[in-house]
Amino acid sequence: MNKPLAEYSAEELAALSGALQREYELLAGNRLALDLSRGKPAADQLSLSDGLENMIAGNYTAADGTDTRNYGQLRGLPEARELGAEILQVPAEHVIAGGNSSLNLMHLVVSTALSKGLWGDSRAWRNSPQPAILTPVPGYDRHFTLTEAMAIGMVHVGMTADGPDLDQARELAAADANIKGIWCVPKYSNPTGCVYADPVVEGLARLCNDAAADDFVVLWDNAYAVHDLHFPPLQLASIHAAAEQAGTLDHVVQFGSTSKITFAGGGLAFVAGSQRVLTQLERQLSFMTIGADKVNQLRHARFLRGRLEAHMQAHAELLRPKFALVIDTLRRELQALDIATWTEPQGGYFVSLDLRPGLASEVVSLAKAVGLSLTPAGATYPRGEDPEDRNVRIAPTFAGLNELEAAMQVLTLCVKLATVRQQNSA
Ligand SMILES: Cc1ncc(COP(=O)(O)O)c(C=O)c1O
Repeated sequence: MNKPLAEYSAEELAALSGALQREYELLAGNRLALDLSRGKPAADQLSLSDGLENMIAGNYTAADGTDTRNYGQLRGLPEARELGAEILQVPAEHVIAGGNSSLNLMHLVVSTALSKGLWGDSRAWRNSPQPAILTPVPGYDRHFTLTEAMAIGMVHVGMTADGPDLDQARELAAADANIKGIWCVPKYSNPTGCVYADPVVEGLARLCNDAAADDFVVLWDNAYAVHDLHFPPLQLASIHAAAEQAGTLDHVVQFGSTSKITFAGGGLAFVAGSQRVLTQLERQLSFMTIGADKVNQLRHARFLRGRLEAHMQAHAELLRPKFALVIDTLRRELQALDIATWTEPQGGYFVSLDLRPGLASEVVSLAKAVGLSLTPAGATYPRGEDPEDRNVRIAPTFAGLNELEAAMQVLTLCVKLATVRQQNSA
């Protein structure tokens, strides 16, 4: 029936409930093993970067004459920093090219801000009784776990289609000097897929001026900077330019990596900031390593420089049908019933599905019982606690199209079944 579930009569609801229950029981007999929880590239995407292997071919010498086989260059090879600059859209002298994980660099920045400060003066978050970071929700679970692991508090900020609720962020930061920063995934945000609007980028660049703390930092995790599904790509406003103009560059630190460009876990990570901040980070890094893997830096620079967009277009060719299948299934199965909303991102790795309050854990359990693994309910909220228990993150990239199609049928069936049961018992 093609109408909102709220308009169903008691008889219609009972008939639908019975039909869905039968469909669900049939599925249970199928011994499915489906997975929509893996936010990682599929093998065909990884194969796009197999050419990395041929990039050295005995020539280990970087453009500036550096022998990449040897120690040194803590800020990274110049051509790797150039690559980071191209991805993050900042000048190369503001970039450190590091090892294989941007999460690792986020850990470095947060731990440095906490224990020593980022500016080489007396400011450090540990001087405050209860340092906390603003966490736009839903958001990226590893930002939350990293923050929690350092015993730093988390304060929710709502997400809008244009990015974090800036008024709320300003109000919270202005009211409490314990609030030391904000996590941001500005392009194709994890999990909503939104791209921060220009005024939000501008406002975030100035947020440290509104904050009560004098050591406030915008943690700008641009993990999906070039992960567009359509070309020409959507342009994110430059927070680097906005911060330079506002005189706040010391309070914006950016991150990126090639994890979902080349090999996940086998690529390069970048951190960008003011010279003052980079100096402190370099100092901290020097206690941890004599330098990153420059051979891999050289390999990546040779492989990607001058062809980054073409490479990302090849990823998009593989990913567009997957995102289209997810969106088409959600529309076909759920739209008319008016029982859920979802995002339709133009890039990145996720689709965010919002159900009626109280149903996310129920849907995840129903799906699990018939062989579909989903990201745990609540994972997109700090401490795994979604206050309304309604958000489900869909990760369409890793599964093949056939698996994805079957998984989306199961997911939408579970959403319908759980919603009808809830409405029946209301
Ligand atoms: C927003 C975001 N940041 C960072 C990462 C991890 O990046 P890396 O592999 O560079 O540590 C991910 C991976 O899913 C992510 O979604």
